[in-house]
Amino acid sequence: MIIAVDGPTASGKGTIAKGLAAHYGLPHLDTGLLYRAVGRQCQLNGGDPDNPGDALAACAFADDLLADPALRSEETGGLASRVSIHPEVRRVLFDRQRAFATQPGGAVLDGRDIGTVIAPEAQAKLFITASVAARAGRRFLEMRSRGLPVTLDAIEADLALRDERDRTRAAAPLVAASDAMVLNNSELSPEASIAAAIRLIERRRR
Ligand code: DC
Repeated sequence: MIIAVDGPTASGKGTIAKGLAAHYGLPHLDTGLLYRAVGRQCQLNGGDPDNPGDALAACAFADDLLADPALRSEETGGLASRVSIHPEVRRVLFDRQRAFATQPGGAVLDGRDIGTVIAPEAQAKLFITASVAARAGRRFLEMRSRGLPVTLDAIEADLALRDERDRTRAAAPLVAASDAMVLNNSELSPEASIAAAIRLIERRRR
């Protein structure tokens, strides 16, 4: 079974995807991490993330970059969003994601275009949403717990900017697949979100 989990930044899709992978015993790929690695590599190269050639060159990142804690920062998230608008970057990352999705036994992938582009044949597609206030609040607590100096206003502004860019780009924009099950988890704990996702999948499978 392929499970596609899409949604905007800080929607909780990563937590839900990890929970589903554990529940169904499937391998999990956080595809945002690949775009983050391209954004970070572009920065390390001294390149311009808005330039398609610089962004494409950064796709040749070494795999150990995927373990770099800097990939988790808001700054790298913004760079990832910028390099991800280039179709040539998406094309290079497509094969790797596609191979992961189609491995024997199935997989869980989370991102923006898993149900629409990477694995349109996925048996289960979830589109995770939450209010901007809920998402910003969670990101704020997470960043404060890591000792990072942040304000709620700055996080809300950054989320809104990134949502807008991800939703309006021409290449594989963030959009729910027509056959996706939408889960709004604004009011749910991580555990309750995972349980709700499992219920939706099981209902569809019957
Ligand atoms: O999920 P995330 O915040 O780690 O993703 C970072 C950026 O990468 C996101 O703003 C847009 C891009 N991305 C994408 O375009 N397609 C994906 N499947 C995953 C992420």
